[in-house]
Amino acid sequence: MKVLVTGVKGQLGYDVVNELESRGYTAVGVDVAEMDITDSVKVREVLTEEMPDAVIHCAAYTAVDAAEDQVEICRKVNADGTENIAKVCGEIGSKLVYISTDYVFDGEGTQLWQPDDERHPLNVYGQTKYEGELAVEKYTDKYFIVRIAWVFGVNGKNFIKTMLNLGKTRDELNVVNDQTGSPTYTYDLARLLVDMVETEKYGRYHATNEGLCTWYEFAKEIFRQAGLNVKVNPVSSDEFPSKAKRPHNSRMSKDKLEENGFQRLPSWEDALARYLKEINEK
Ligand SMILES: NC(=O)c1ccc[n+]([C@@H]2O[C@H](COP(=O)([O-])OP(=O)(O)OC[C@H]3O[C@@H](n4cnc5c(N)ncnc54)[C@H](OP(=O)(O)O)[C@@H]3O)[C@@H](O)[C@H]2O)c1
Repeated sequence: MKVLVTGVKGQLGYDVVNELESRGYTAVGVDVAEMDITDSVKVREVLTEEMPDAVIHCAAYTAVDAAEDQVEICRKVNADGTENIAKVCGEIGSKLVYISTDYVFDGEGTQLWQPDDERHPLNVYGQTKYEGELAVEKYTDKYFIVRIAWVFGVNGKNFIKTMLNLGKTRDELNVVNDQTGSPTYTYDLARLLVDMVETEKYGRYHATNEGLCTWYEFAKEIFRQAGLNVKVNPVSSDEFPSKAKRPHNSRMSKDKLEENGFQRLPSWEDALARYLKEINEK
């Protein structure tokens, strides 16, 4: 099987290429330099030349707060860029895995979001990722839409690295305690994504590590496991203003994974322990 992976220089794309190669598949990793996804001519040229069996589309504009001021560029990448890819995948019959986000939901209530629940994003990033989902659904049949959240991987910036850096110079931090969700370790997710493209079990899925926490609880566990003595104070989102609104409830049901014969990801605490080991060894 030949799989083209977008966003190979990002957190997730990097691990997906490694996972594909470790299973003996041909992985073609591309980023802006090789295939700027906003350039429809280039996207067509690369995909029709490579003729992959599947595309795992990890590239995105991911600066959630900056997106509020950069609506045009964010939409160009997340919505139009995804449409460019979906159109060609539809034409050449390639499977398409589109990585989406909990931010397509408005975060109301405390229930678990189901993959087919109504989408109602709160911010520009979420809106453009939602538009990307619509393009995938419009132009392809052989698609997996996989919504993930709170991502961490070795290759890039994330909440854990931010906490560890702050922990070097601060002995006390305020972290929001009214947003609940589940972190996603790219190493674990990459294995699931490759499992998925080996099947034809298309549709919308949620895939995060098991278990729930708030950012405050996540931060406390990071410092505990890293052996850093930092006092973490729980605060509300109102006390920690950010440009983009964020959903309070990012609890996502992953039952559909099991229903379709896929394995759930390990617990987020276990993923965190393996991740800290991985970055320490690097
Ligand atoms: N990070 C999270 O917490 C989170 C949460 C939910 C869902 N997701 C989704 O998960 C996926 C992977 O996220 P990630 O954290 O791995 O992202 P990331 O580390 O920001 O990587 C994204 C990659 O896409 C590249 N890219 C940006 N614009 C491009 C363009 N026009 N053409 C081609 N490549 C382009 C970026 O290049 P530059 O760095 O040069 O811009 C970067 O290498 C994304 O679809 C994201 O929306 C992420």
